[in-house]
Amino acid sequence: MERRDPPRWTSAWPAGLLAASILSSSFLLTQAQQPTTVYNISVFMDPPEALEGQKINLTLTHAPAEFFLCNWYRGTEVKENLIVTIYLPPLTGNTFGSAYTNREIPGFGCSLLITNLHPNDSGNYTVTKDGAGVHGRGLANIQVLEKLSNPDLWSSAFLVAENGTVTLSCNTSSSTRVTVTWSKDGRPVPAKARLSDQNRTLTLLKFAPEDAGNYTCMASNPVSSATSNPRTITMAYGPTAAKLNQSGTIVQPLGSTLVLLCTADSVPPAEFEWFFNTTAKNGTEDTLSVRLETWEDEGSYMCQARNSFTHHNASASLYVKLTGSGSGLPGLSAGTIAGIVIGSVSGAVLCVGVMYFLFTKASCWVKKTYNIQH
Ligand SMILES: *[C@@H]1O[C@H](CO)[C@@H](O)[C@H](O)[C@H]1NC(C)=O
Ligand SMILES: *[C@@H]1O[C@H](CO)[C@@H](O)[C@H](O)[C@H]1NC(C)=O
Ligand SMILES: *[C@@H]1O[C@H](CO)[C@@H](O)[C@H](O)[C@H]1NC(C)=O
Ligand SMILES: *[C@@H]1O[C@H](CO)[C@@H](O)[C@H](O)[C@H]1NC(C)=O
Ligand SMILES: *[C@@H]1O[C@H](CO)[C@@H](O)[C@H](O)[C@H]1NC(C)=O
Repeated sequence: MERRDPPRWTSAWPAGLLAASILSSSFLLTQAQQPTTVYNISVFMDPPEALEGQKINLTLTHAPAEFFLCNWYRGTEVKENLIVTIYLPPLTGNTFGSAYTNREIPGFGCSLLITNLHPNDSGNYTVTKDGAGVHGRGLANIQVLEKLSNPDLWSSAFLVAENGTVTLSCNTSSSTRVTVTWSKDGRPVPAKARLSDQNRTLTLLKFAPEDAGNYTCMASNPVSSATSNPRTITMAYGPTAAKLNQSGTIVQPLGSTLVLLCTADSVPPAEFEWFFNTTAKNGTEDTLSVRLETWEDEGSYMCQARNSFTHHNASASLYVKLTGSGSGLPGLSAGTIAGIVIGSVSGAVLCVGVMYFLFTKASCWVKKTYNIQH
């Protein structure tokens, strides 16, 4: 705020000097001779509500006595709080004090007009009137209603565990004239929400799924209202269960690739770990891809989903049974070998059978001949 060195004496200063001498002499006189009569002065505010950036006029009720001057103070009646001294007819003029801010205009009958009101102008103002053997005193309390800017909404967390606690704070003017209200997704907040600190703090205990959403606070006073930024509060949960895209026992040929996808309902998203029998497999992705190279790869494959926020786990597994592919000797199964043996035997039997029916001398084996007719 601009604060100019107040002009101590106006052009009317000789009048002020006169008034001062009259006063001091009359004070000495009255103090020595008779008690001072004290009047209560009422101060009227126009308009009744002081608004930021606007002006307010403070006028006084008439007191039935002769006064020489009056003083306006910002706060209590001490010298450093003096805004202005106004001399009354037949004297004229005024002198400004150290609490003058260049926005106060003295007027007729000791009135004071304060312009371009600032929230800092809020507080008590004291006016005194002095005459011979008379002293008047009045008080005014001004509460400047500010044009509210948008409150800042904070929360202790964005992500809250089920049954956890979250606190939201609406940072706005601390004036008691400012009312704070809350909403969630544009509707009233859950009934269990606890408000404190003049409604500026909202606490949710035992956080439940229905408490998750978009919160805002609104600050208002008789002249303005402003809404905060939204704050989204999400509930962390799960994983409720883990699921593989295949289940039970599956049969895969040796040499093929096993590809499994693991899913889990979880907020925040689950992290995955894979196990074969009881040993951990490389990788933390939701997909496992393993080439089933040897018979040793037959066994149980398990996915474990883990929520790093709730520290809950869930798992799912399946059993992979291997079948032979027939290519290459290493790893040939007993069944495959049996199949090859049966194949050769049936070939020989077929050859002999054909020769028998054709009654030919042809041979199945080049070096041997069979005479069927004895
Ligand atoms: C939350 O509290 C309710 C009731 O006390 C209980 O049934 C539920 O299991 C709790 N949830 C968690 C995740 O602790
Ligand atoms: C509220 O906002 C004011 C101004 O932005 C800031 O100075 C103050 O630290 C804030 N208070 C809290 C509790 O965040
Ligand atoms: C399982 O998911 C993986 C990865 O998406 C996919 O490659 C595979 O074919 C799926 N298996 C089945 C039986 O759907
Ligand atoms: C995963 O495999 C890569 C390459 O094969 C290896 O460098 C890494 O150490 C392995 N990580 C784990 C956790 O086994
Ligand atoms: C994996 O477990 C299965 C079934 O328990 C077992 O037959 C197989 O030998 C195990 N494999 C390894 C490499 O431990």
